Amino acid sequence: MKNVSKVFQTRRQTIHALQDINLNVPEKSIVGIVGPSGCGKSTIIRLLNDIIKPTSGDIVVDDYTYEAKIPADVIRKFGFIFQRPNLLPWLTLRENIQFPQKIVGLKGPEWDRVVDDLIKIGRLEDVADQYPSSLSGGMLQRGGVLRAMATRPEILLMDEPFGSLDDMLREQLDIETLEIWQKLEQTIIFITHNVREAILMSGKVYVMATEPGRIIAEIPIDIPYPRELKIIADPKFLEYERQITNLIGEIDLSTIK
Ligand SMILES: Nc1ncnc2c1ncn2[C@@H]1O[C@H](COP(=O)(O)OP(=O)(O)OP(=O)(O)O)[C@@H](O)[C@H]1O
Ligand SMILES: [Mg+2]
Repeated sequence: MKNVSKVFQTRRQTIHALQDINLNVPEKSIVGIVGPSGCGKSTIIRLLNDIIKPTSGDIVVDDYTYEAKIPADVIRKFGFIFQRPNLLPWLTLRENIQFPQKIVGLKGPEWDRVVDDLIKIGRLEDVADQYPSSLSGGMLQRGGVLRAMATRPEILLMDEPFGSLDDMLREQLDIETLEIWQKLEQTIIFITHNVREAILMSGKVYVMATEPGRIIAEIPIDIPYPRELKIIADPKFLEYERQITNLIGEIDLSTIK
């Protein structure tokens, strides 16, 4: 994103949801975006997904600059993972994971194999033919991540994907997502209001502030992958945590939903 701004005009007020956003996401990296509620994190995702248009500024994906009408193959580069997995209750886990392929007309043995591989990577072989109602929260969440990967998107946009889970399960899924990412070599934009999660996942973290929604810092995380959960106790990790928490302020972000 180059100097992207987004202004929402409602009947009562003008909201500067994003102001002069410059965001650079290198191919095959994980970029974290962390900031308080209302700082425009989800607005960034909706701009990338072409649900809304910027008020000013440019969005460039590979060599393509967004215009009024965006070709389907650009939008198809993206996969989306949201806070709630919303698996369809009348489909088995396997059918849920395969569902996005059906939507865009990808079929045949090679695409069945993509689904099989994802189920294996997610270690869900034993429950693949069960329905969502009989699966645990963590399995559903993992199913949501794998489903977004079924069409082999180059870029994954994850908006608080594990926000509704407790710390332990969330961090476990973070580590699993890192493992999947290392196997599939995708580009990930990872949005969270949890500072620790942002550092754990990302090669670089953008810190945002609100009113107007803006970037206040860009912090490269100089910790090599593969990362294990125990790094959250490393002095270097704790120093990043202190730095970013100070930037955001004294608010306890974990209490914000
Ligand atoms: N369609 C819209 N019309 C008017 N205002 C909007 C619209 N969408 C978002 N906003 C406003 O833009 C600002 C940014 O919203 P956004 O959803 O991007 O925040 P967020 O950082 O994702 O917050 P959270 O952490 O709570 O998910 C907020 O003030 C929100 O009220
Ligand atoms: Mg949001």
